[in-house]
Amino acid sequence: MATPTATAAKTKAAKTAKQDPKKAKAAAIAEARSFAPELTVRIGSTPKTKFRGNPDVFGRLVEDHDKHRALIAMIEETTSGNPDQRKMLFEEFCKEVQSHAAAEEQALWSTVMREPSTTDDARHAVAEHKELDDLMADLAARDYSSPGWLRRFAALKEEYLHHVGEEEQEQFVAAEKTLSASDLKYMRKVFERRKKAEKAAAKIEKKIKLKD
Ligand SMILES: [Fe+2]
Ligand SMILES: [Fe+2]
Repeated sequence: MATPTATAAKTKAAKTAKQDPKKAKAAAIAEARSFAPELTVRIGSTPKTKFRGNPDVFGRLVEDHDKHRALIAMIEETTSGNPDQRKMLFEEFCKEVQSHAAAEEQALWSTVMREPSTTDDARHAVAEHKELDDLMADLAARDYSSPGWLRRFAALKEEYLHHVGEEEQEQFVAAEKTLSASDLKYMRKVFERRKKAEKAAAKIEKKIKLKD
C-alpha cells in the first residue's frame, strides 16, 4: 500500500506532468460538446503547438483555445431554423472568449507587457481582444434566424483562429523566453481564478458595429 507521502508525491507529479496533447485536445472538445451533444464537431487540424497538454499557463490557455475551436465548429453546424440553439452556443462562446481574454490579460499579458522585448507582442494580443469583442457584440445584436448570420460569423471565426494561432505559435513562444518556470505555474493559478470570476460576471454585449 502506498504511504501518504508517496501518494502526495504522486498527486503532485500528476499535476505537474505534461498531458498527452491528443488527450488534452479531445478533453477540451468533449467539454464543448456537452452543450449540444447532438451536433457534429468538425474542428479539423489545428496549427502545431508545443504547448498543448503542458501543465503551466500556456497549456491551460491552449486547452481553452481548443474548446473555443470546438464551439466554433458546433456553431457552424447550427441552422437558421433553430435560432435558440445557435444563440445558446454563441452566447457560451462569447462568455468563454471574453473571460478567457480578460484573465489572460491579467495573468499573462500584463507581465509580458512590462518586459521591453515582448511589449509589442502583448499589445498586439490585447488589441486583437478588443477587435474580437466588437465582432462578438455585432453578431449578438443580429437576428439568429437570418440566413446571413453564419456568413457574418465566418468573419469572427477567421479573426479568432488568426488570434489564437498567433498566440500559440509566436507570442507564447516569445513570452516563454522571458518567464521562469515558477512564473508560468503561478500564472496558471491566477488565470484559473480570474477566468472563473470573469465568466461568472460576463455579460453579452449587443451592438451593431459593422456596416452591411
Ligand atoms: Fe488566448
Ligand atoms: Fe488572447
